[in-house]
Amino acid sequence: MTVHFIGAGPGAADLLTLRGRDLIAASPVCLYAGSLVPEGVLAHCPPGARLVNTAPLALDAIIAEIASAHAEGKDVARLHSGDLSVWSAMGEQIRRLRDLGIPYDVTPGVPSFAASAAALGVELTLPGLAQSVILTRTGGRASPMPAGETLAAFAATGATLAIHLSIHALNRVVEELLPHYGPECPVAVVWRATWPDQRIVRAPLAGIVDAIGSEIDRTALILVGPALAQEGFQESRLYADDYDRRYRPRGTAPRFPEGE
Ligand SMILES: C[S@@+](CC[C@H](N)C(=O)[O-])C[C@H]1O[C@@H](n2cnc3c(N)ncnc32)[C@H](O)[C@@H]1O
Repeated sequence: MTVHFIGAGPGAADLLTLRGRDLIAASPVCLYAGSLVPEGVLAHCPPGARLVNTAPLALDAIIAEIASAHAEGKDVARLHSGDLSVWSAMGEQIRRLRDLGIPYDVTPGVPSFAASAAALGVELTLPGLAQSVILTRTGGRASPMPAGETLAAFAATGATLAIHLSIHALNRVVEELLPHYGPECPVAVVWRATWPDQRIVRAPLAGIVDAIGSEIDRTALILVGPALAQEGFQESRLYADDYDRRYRPRGTAPRFPEGE
């Protein structure tokens, strides 16, 4: 018996890995995290599977469900939205499973920052503008931010920011970012990326609050940074005609930089 933690992706049912789909189809028990996991993904469960929405359950009750499946020798598909490496609450479940000696594995999913970038049709790292993407959030009632992990500190890097779980605090986000990115810095808010009601709002940092109005709440990602303009950047050296690389050697004494 194994608990399969599976990233269920950002919303569209076909943005699930084939491995994730097959594990769901082979597991007689499926625990899924409420409204963020689409019904189309649950449709892969085998007929007669026990389906449990864990949104209203506390951690003890979730672990009790898993322990009971373990006692019966039944595999569990444990679904969380997006990918499991960020804000999935997988860590605390795994710690309990380790204590109980219950085996588990992890199958990644498409994270919402990648789905949002795809919805915008943009690359978040552009030469000369940004070479880092910072996945972060603002503090919430349940999860205060560790000291040092402030928006201002991240903004000081000038990198592309992907700010999760924070659309309700957009005013504060803008206030903290303005001194670093300036009023004209491009922002995109992607609401429910890949769901049928996906919505995108783009505006300069100084205008994003007015552009959004009060309609958008929850399940939205705030992307900020100069790379979102998709202009004013250099072409990468990787595909430059005169660039010497392992798979496209150039010149009489080509060099082969490690890893390229
Ligand atoms: C609890 S976190 C889950 C993150 C998830 N594990 C991931 O890989 O993206 C929920 C936050 O992720 C973002 N999010 C999740 N799904 C989204 C989607 N389809 N579109 C935009 N943002 C999304 C929102 O910022 C939301 O508040």
